[in-house]
Amino acid sequence: MEDKYSILGPFYDFMSFVYSFNQIDKCKTAMHDRIKPDSKVLFAGVGHGIDAIAAAELGAEVTVVDLSATMLKILNKGIAKKKEFKHPIRQLHKNILHVDEFSKYDMVFANFFLNLFSEEKLIQVLSHLTNLAKKGGFVVIGDWTPPRGNMIAKFFQILYWRMADLFFWVFANNELHPFYDYQKSMRELGLEIKKVKYFRVLFDERYCSILGQKN
Ligand SMILES: C[S@@+](CC[C@H](N)C(=O)[O-])C[C@H]1O[C@@H](n2cnc3c(N)ncnc32)[C@H](O)[C@@H]1O
Repeated sequence: MEDKYSILGPFYDFMSFVYSFNQIDKCKTAMHDRIKPDSKVLFAGVGHGIDAIAAAELGAEVTVVDLSATMLKILNKGIAKKKEFKHPIRQLHKNILHVDEFSKYDMVFANFFLNLFSEEKLIQVLSHLTNLAKKGGFVVIGDWTPPRGNMIAKFFQILYWRMADLFFWVFANNELHPFYDYQKSMRELGLEIKKVKYFRVLFDERYCSILGQKN
């Protein structure tokens, strides 16, 4: 299985900490107040998994999915540093599109995951994630938020995003694309937006966590 994160993987969380002044980590756990003990929670493209570990610490039954063996190895180092969880974290080393546990999950997280894909693929992946959630369950997207404010503010927000977009295009072969309006895509797929939390870096909101409910 191709591992696009074999080089970047070990530095990924450190880079995101420096780049975002720790706002990315805050964004990834912003909706954790919705996690209940014993609820079934899925993390797509989990990476180092601080968000998945935090969910397991809340007593959730956590499943994580990632294509990268490097990322899963780092996740396991993080798990080893913790005491036992109520439910051990279940790990699937596979493509999220090959997970067919439909209508199983109370919450499905896509943290800094959907921006990897082209616009067309994004809808396919988001639709798949929605199908994995139960009726009444939630899909959570944590990611960059489209630029807002005056022209100068927008210029710096675009510059900030492009630096990351280009970096991951070069080193992880991710897609180059414009900002995605995740709230719009979620509504198009029938999710009701229940809550949005924004995270600022310097003068502007750069990230958001969106809670969508499948009705
Ligand atoms: C940008 S990283 C984000 C990691 C983590 N969610 C975070 O917020 O730090 C994207 C992760 O998605 C994984 N990934 C990419 N395509 C995938 C796919 N089709 N199925 C499962 N995982 C995938 C990568 O291996 C990588 O670990």
